[in-house]
Amino acid sequence: MVLQGKKVLLAVSGSIAAYKAPMLVRLLVKKSCVVRVVLTKSAADFVSPLTLSTLTDAPVEVDFFNRESPEKGWSNHVDMALWADLMIIAPVSSNTLSKMASGQSDNLLLAAFMSAKCPVYFAPAMDLDMYKNEATKENIEKLISRGYHCIPSESGELASGLVGEGRMAEPENIVAFVEQSLIDQQPLRGKTVMVNAGPTREAIDPVRFIGNHASGKMGHALATEAARLGAKVHLILGPTGIPFDYSGMKVTHVESTQEMYEACAAIFPDADLAVFSAAVADYRPAKRHEQKVKKSEANLEISLEPTVDILKTLGHQKKSEQIVIGFALETENAIEYATKKLHTKNADFIVCNVAGEHTGFAHDTNEVTVIAKDESQAHFPLTEKTQLAKYLWNHFIKSLATS
Ligand code: CTP
Repeated sequence: MVLQGKKVLLAVSGSIAAYKAPMLVRLLVKKSCVVRVVLTKSAADFVSPLTLSTLTDAPVEVDFFNRESPEKGWSNHVDMALWADLMIIAPVSSNTLSKMASGQSDNLLLAAFMSAKCPVYFAPAMDLDMYKNEATKENIEKLISRGYHCIPSESGELASGLVGEGRMAEPENIVAFVEQSLIDQQPLRGKTVMVNAGPTREAIDPVRFIGNHASGKMGHALATEAARLGAKVHLILGPTGIPFDYSGMKVTHVESTQEMYEACAAIFPDADLAVFSAAVADYRPAKRHEQKVKKSEANLEISLEPTVDILKTLGHQKKSEQIVIGFALETENAIEYATKKLHTKNADFIVCNVAGEHTGFAHDTNEVTVIAKDESQAHFPLTEKTQLAKYLWNHFIKSLATS
């Protein structure tokens, strides 16, 4: 489940264990991963690129430059590394291990490794004495200390005929290791997260409404990231024309503030964390006309009445173990007003954004300051909302873990 849909870059270096790479590809594909393969030249002597290409339904990369099909040009190791959700280097020969540890990049595999921003797993494979060598131990430790994940070698009969440690972990064990590690990296696993997002619409008559420009992008990004971090996510979304990807979350579509309130109130008691990012209307027409209001020469006055404040109402119902995260959109005195909202609405954090040229409503980017209950502040400069969602969850999780 945790591997489903993941883009995996499998890197194979020159070791006899490379013959197990096709089996590893098969297991990953069975888990619904999209797999691409990069080989070192010597790995291509142990395992056929054609086999791997057939199993992955994609070209296998070996060289920086494709000499056989020059029209394909340079293989871009950076694109390849950034494409991947995770990289598995299996087998890692002693030579490749030492180059990884010393930061060399004289082949495509190493260049992709150096460019990778995703979790990287490596499965060493070498002969017993090489595996036991101090240099090997140091190289493995160096890589682990840099945040790379070592899939321990197994004991058994080695290609040399020796019996002992150094054999690459079996493909099934590599997949199980990666799965368990990804589960461990999901700090919101077992948690239920509720997010409200988007605008609300308050009907004037059957064809007109009072609304706002909110897109729901920030809330959707937070919901997506929460799902990626392992949470059970429920998104309550106001009307936005954006064709969002809702995988990994349950969605309730609502129109008015009242509908949004009712949907949130039904879920909130079961939520461990609740994020209120919706741009909720503060007022609604006191009277909703049953028929379309006809035009006349006279001025039209619409009397407005306050809507329910969803965050404030639910914030004051929260239990001690629940965490409530509100938003504040301001145009002046941002920190002062946002801090006031934090306290009056009984939130644990308030994410303050200022409506601007690249921030707030509808934009793909945002810049925010998070204010915690003790009024400590953390500023997040202008960045993509999808990236900001990662920073924000990281901040909430760290703050909660240390509070
Ligand atoms: N909010 C809400 N229900 C409302 C109004 C606001 O749940 N009827 C929530 C928003 O989702 C946000 C927070 O309250 O998390 C602050 O919203 P904001 O529009 O910035 O502030 P308001 O409380 O509406 O105050 P004002 O418009 O005067 O700034």
